Amino acid sequence: MAILITGGAGFIGFNLAERLLEAEKEVVIFDINVNKVKDKAEGIILEKGDVSKGKALDAICEKYKFTTIFHLAAILPPLTEEEPFKAFKTNVEGTLNVLDAARKYNIETIIYPSSATVFGPDRTPPFTEEDLLDPWTIYSSFKLCTEIMGSIYSKKYDINFRAVRFPVVVGPGRDPFLGITQYPTQMVEEAVKGKPYVADVLPETKIPIVFIDDAVQILINLWRSKDLDFEIVNVDGLWVTAQEIADGIKKIIPSAEIVFKPVENVHIQQVLSGVQKHKDEAKYGLKGKRLLDEILQEYISRSSEKK
Ligand SMILES: NC(=O)c1ccc[n+]([C@@H]2O[C@H](COP(=O)([O-])OP(=O)(O)OC[C@H]3O[C@@H](n4cnc5c(N)ncnc54)[C@H](O)[C@@H]3O)[C@@H](O)[C@H]2O)c1
Repeated sequence: MAILITGGAGFIGFNLAERLLEAEKEVVIFDINVNKVKDKAEGIILEKGDVSKGKALDAICEKYKFTTIFHLAAILPPLTEEEPFKAFKTNVEGTLNVLDAARKYNIETIIYPSSATVFGPDRTPPFTEEDLLDPWTIYSSFKLCTEIMGSIYSKKYDINFRAVRFPVVVGPGRDPFLGITQYPTQMVEEAVKGKPYVADVLPETKIPIVFIDDAVQILINLWRSKDLDFEIVNVDGLWVTAQEIADGIKKIIPSAEIVFKPVENVHIQQVLSGVQKHKDEAKYGLKGKRLLDEILQEYISRSSEKK
């Protein structure tokens, strides 16, 4: 019995694929761009394809007998905001194709990373799963839409659709130019390269982060949980300011040069002005375990190995 990871050549997907392979699972990656992992995917089956093409997805489900789909294929911000129609095809139609493939091929479980951005920027954590949802970007509106589609497919067709609302996932392999909050990744990557970095946010900007290994473990825990059928869960992040991240990097790389020059970018300001109101620790349902020093130590040492 094989496991399908859509978007498995991406940051979270490939880390997940490697972890599932360690547990001796037959892992199939279905991704529009498998080339980027072909040199490091030993033991993992790579299938190039587009989730927005239902027939291509069906053909893969015919070929392998999947019990589970980890559905990670998606377009991330800022591309979702710049090209919403294109992103709709992948993020919304693609998810509908995955749900419908699960129905047609009797696939029991779909694990789906949603996003903490569905709560909107203007409200204060802690959030519960029952709290009001208020997406304020195209990306987060697609996340909410697909959560609801998953809920409906669960009820109608008895599929275990389980979604987890991640905060900002950080770690080696993340594309430094994707995501609403790119500065934590860029700060680390530039410091590792020995280059100065200008952060375009205020030093006190505070965001919740979770380290990639913990994010992968959370996805696996959700998949392994026997008690759940349909579920949408929040996940806690470690709330850190941009200044704390910069200070943490300098403890490990004392020569790192990081300065702050906030920009007047309407989109970013809108997002981050909301984020800055989040002064308290969030109390989500699941928790990323690591402290900032530990996250940065691991992140920097693995990024330095890759250099
Ligand atoms: N990284 C984060 O901080 C974060 C936070 C919350 C949720 N998520 C969600 O986790 C998932 C994975 O995110 P990531 O950070 O690994 O992003 P990523 O961009 O690294 O990976 C996404 C993968 O999807 C693939 N893809 C894009 N369009 C496709 C299509 N039409 N068909 C098939 N494959 C396609 C890309 O080639 C890429 O490999 C996404 O659903 C994202 O919204 C990520």
